[in-house]
Amino acid sequence: MKTLIIYASIHHGNTEKIARTIAAVLDADIVEAVNVGIGNLEEYDLIGFGSGIYGWKHHKSLLNLIDRLPNTNVGAFIYSTRGNLIRLVPLENYHKVARNSLLEKGFEIVGEFSCLGFDTSGPLRLVGGKNRGHPDERDLDDAREFAAGLKNGVRFTETMGS
Ligand SMILES: Cc1cc2nc3c(=O)[nH]c(=O)nc-3n(C[C@H](O)[C@H](O)[C@H](O)COP(=O)(O)O)c2cc1C
Repeated sequence: MKTLIIYASIHHGNTEKIARTIAAVLDADIVEAVNVGIGNLEEYDLIGFGSGIYGWKHHKSLLNLIDRLPNTNVGAFIYSTRGNLIRLVPLENYHKVARNSLLEKGFEIVGEFSCLGFDTSGPLRLVGGKNRGHPDERDLDDAREFAAGLKNGVRFTETMGS
């Protein structure tokens, strides 16, 4: 299964850590969203799309990329890091824009992953931020487990972290 991991990780490099962890398990190629050559995606069986969450959705560079993709029927998974606890805002909400855009393009969504990331946005900066240290080792283990599920052909796997 030839896999590509696409990421945007602007704030603190939180999502890049998850992207690299998943890529290591899947032996995947990895590229930043802004550097994706659209014509080069045909060789992949599975593509992961991830970024931090910015204003309730994925980073615009990732969403813009998805909008520019041609129609396809390959597998995709969505991942993210975020500042808010998942019990406060369901993952469904944060991944909704990316998920709908990917489905419109014909991708089959085979998994979704999210975990906390260090967040110093807005007034949080004044108090040193929140979720310091995240993604932590446990988050990375969750990401490895998620990736192992994909590797073993699980049809749909979801990990929401804390
Ligand atoms: C401008 C801005 C907006 C954000 N909006 C949200 C949000 O709506 N919900 C949330 O849970 N986290 C939000 N965050 C926190 C980021 O999603 C979090 O820090 C993430 O781990 C950043 O990932 P990155 O370092 O890979 O860019 C926001 C951060 C910034 C800077």
